[in-house]
Amino acid sequence: MIQKKFDQIDRRIFSFPAVHPCEAVSPVTLLSSLIILSQDISYYQSNSFATQRRNARETIRQIGILVVFLEEIHDRGLVVPESAVLCFSELHLTFQKIRFLLEDCSREGARLWILMKSEVVASQFRVLIRTVATALDVLPLDSIDVCGEVKELVELVAKQARKAKIEVDPDDERAMRRLVSVLDGLEKGMEPEFQILKWLLDFLEIKTWSDCNKEVKFLEEQCVEGGEEREVPFLTSLLGFMYYCRGRIFDTLDGPNVEQTDVRCNIEVLSCLNPQDFRCPISLELMIDPVTLSTGQTYDRSSIQKWLKAGHTICPKTGEKLTSTELVPNTNLRKLIHQFCADNGASLAKTGKKSHDITRTIVSGSPAAAEAMKFLSRLLVRKLIFGTSEQKNKAAYEIRLLAKSNIYNRSCLIEAGTIPPLLNLLYSFNKSIQENAIAALLKLSKHASGKKVMIESGGLRSILAVLKRGMSLEARQIAAATIFYLSSVKGYRKLIGETDEAIPALVDLIKEGTLCGRKNAVVALFGLVLYPGNCQRVIDAGTVPLLLETVASLDKHELVTDSVALLATLAESFDGAIAILRAASLPLITRILQSSTSQAAKEHCVSILLCCCNNGGDEAISVLAKDPSVMSSLYSLTTDGTAQASKKARSLIKILHKFHETSSSGQGCQALTHEQSVHVW
Ligand SMILES: *[C@@H]1O[C@H](CO)[C@@H](O)[C@H](O)[C@H]1NC(C)=O
Ligand SMILES: *[C@@H]1O[C@H](CO)[C@@H](O)[C@H](O)[C@H]1NC(C)=O
Repeated sequence: MIQKKFDQIDRRIFSFPAVHPCEAVSPVTLLSSLIILSQDISYYQSNSFATQRRNARETIRQIGILVVFLEEIHDRGLVVPESAVLCFSELHLTFQKIRFLLEDCSREGARLWILMKSEVVASQFRVLIRTVATALDVLPLDSIDVCGEVKELVELVAKQARKAKIEVDPDDERAMRRLVSVLDGLEKGMEPEFQILKWLLDFLEIKTWSDCNKEVKFLEEQCVEGGEEREVPFLTSLLGFMYYCRGRIFDTLDGPNVEQTDVRCNIEVLSCLNPQDFRCPISLELMIDPVTLSTGQTYDRSSIQKWLKAGHTICPKTGEKLTSTELVPNTNLRKLIHQFCADNGASLAKTGKKSHDITRTIVSGSPAAAEAMKFLSRLLVRKLIFGTSEQKNKAAYEIRLLAKSNIYNRSCLIEAGTIPPLLNLLYSFNKSIQENAIAALLKLSKHASGKKVMIESGGLRSILAVLKRGMSLEARQIAAATIFYLSSVKGYRKLIGETDEAIPALVDLIKEGTLCGRKNAVVALFGLVLYPGNCQRVIDAGTVPLLLETVASLDKHELVTDSVALLATLAESFDGAIAILRAASLPLITRILQSSTSQAAKEHCVSILLCCCNNGGDEAISVLAKDPSVMSSLYSLTTDGTAQASKKARSLIKILHKFHETSSSGQGCQALTHEQSVHVW
């Protein structure tokens, strides 16, 4: 295997994982591979680059000339002497790197970064071209039978490659200086001039909102994944600059995805309920770098590596023999954990390993970024209030993006006063405006002062209006998630529960919503019943049968875990337990107890069963006692469950034992309770 394909998305920018051709490869194979590589390189046109045009042009040109030579050998089937192999394999290595470098220079979204890295990029080009020169030096041209003209060309390339002036383009240099002065200005609290921003973006050929957004996304990734820690403040400044440009320069949202909301649910909401799934089963710490084994179990990379290093060959959790020791990064989970930490102000860094991810903290990352964010927040408030409807829509959308994960950004936006005008937009008759406004509010509601401002400026009524009569299901389900965040404040739980609308509207959403909508509604109700006074209201609204239906129809979906979580809380009250018994749902709950793969779900199921036994008496217990599988599920929980789960399982086992004893000794007593309970139900 001589030509390994690397996935462009996976390769970090400026990393050149070129492969050496293997030793035994024949000159002919090597030659054809070289030709393919150089053709790939000639497909790049220097004008597909915003910067580094001259260096790219020079490199592509020289390799273009070498192709003529390589193709002649190939087409005429000339014998390549063994002694040429060294040169060819060096070229092969270098061409791969050149191809990567060209790829980086034309990478979508990386224009600003490449510009700011002009020095580094130019020196990469220089090194690679000089390496080509060195490789050609050892080429035994005389022993290859190509025509004289071609030989001359090769010699020419060798000479030029050795001498070529490869440095930063003066145009790039000028643009870089302008940008640095904008950043300096920002740092001193000076708002950048529109004309200069426009000039810079034009230079980089960033022409639309979505071009700009690509730059933002790229820089965001670099901040999180990015290499060296010392670069992060600078990256953050660039990012702040790009955010500001995106908000200021482009008034029109373009691109296919703009109107679409995140396909995934407001999933982070849910994860708050089961944070134990974020912990490494080995270290019990939050996972920094979750990886999945061939058995499908996920562990933190450092823990599982220690485990494997110690010579173990089985999966620590399931005991299955490992078919491979490959560790697959679980990026989704990783994102969720980061989100969870950001939302809860927790930090992953304390676990010893340094986290580069400063974007998720309450500090701004860099003074220039901080100022950019403040200017941007004020600008957005003005647009929300005085803008055309298009500008309002766009401003709401920007806020929605900016407030996504960054605590500092959220607080800037809240302080600047974005919440009251966003609340006003909830009454818009335009679906897109309403959706963007409620989604922006959702993000801001994760911040403590955001909740406060929302409630104090009378926002609850507007949010409930969207929950009930939003123009789209999407808007309604986002409103439900917002209610969840608001209900994380003790005092607001009561307030929200006591409105006439909130609980019935959430219950309606369980009936009518998509999976995401139902999920958000269930979780929001869960948030509300943390105030015991709301329990009865939730039960009265007919929630229990709906939840049971959900559990029965979805089986393994994560919504099941959330539904049983809510049921477990409701079952603690007499009416809640009775509602479950009335629906004859104990077999359903025991089935989930047995089959669920989520520890959290199992624990909730035991709680439900326990509450039902305590409230429903022998009638309930006798149903469980008839099912032999219950005992074994309970016993296994006493050993692998959490302390809580194991305690509950033991209580339930005790109840069942007692029942067996009494029912085998005194039958009469059971009949009596039976009658009683029938009566009660
Ligand atoms: C806004 O958030 C992004 C990422 O969420 C972060 O990188 C950026 O630095 C933040 N802006 C400021 C001014 O902190
Ligand atoms: C909603 O507002 C946006 C932005 O002004 C506009 O592009 C869109 O056409 C409007 N939609 C409707 C249905 O009026």
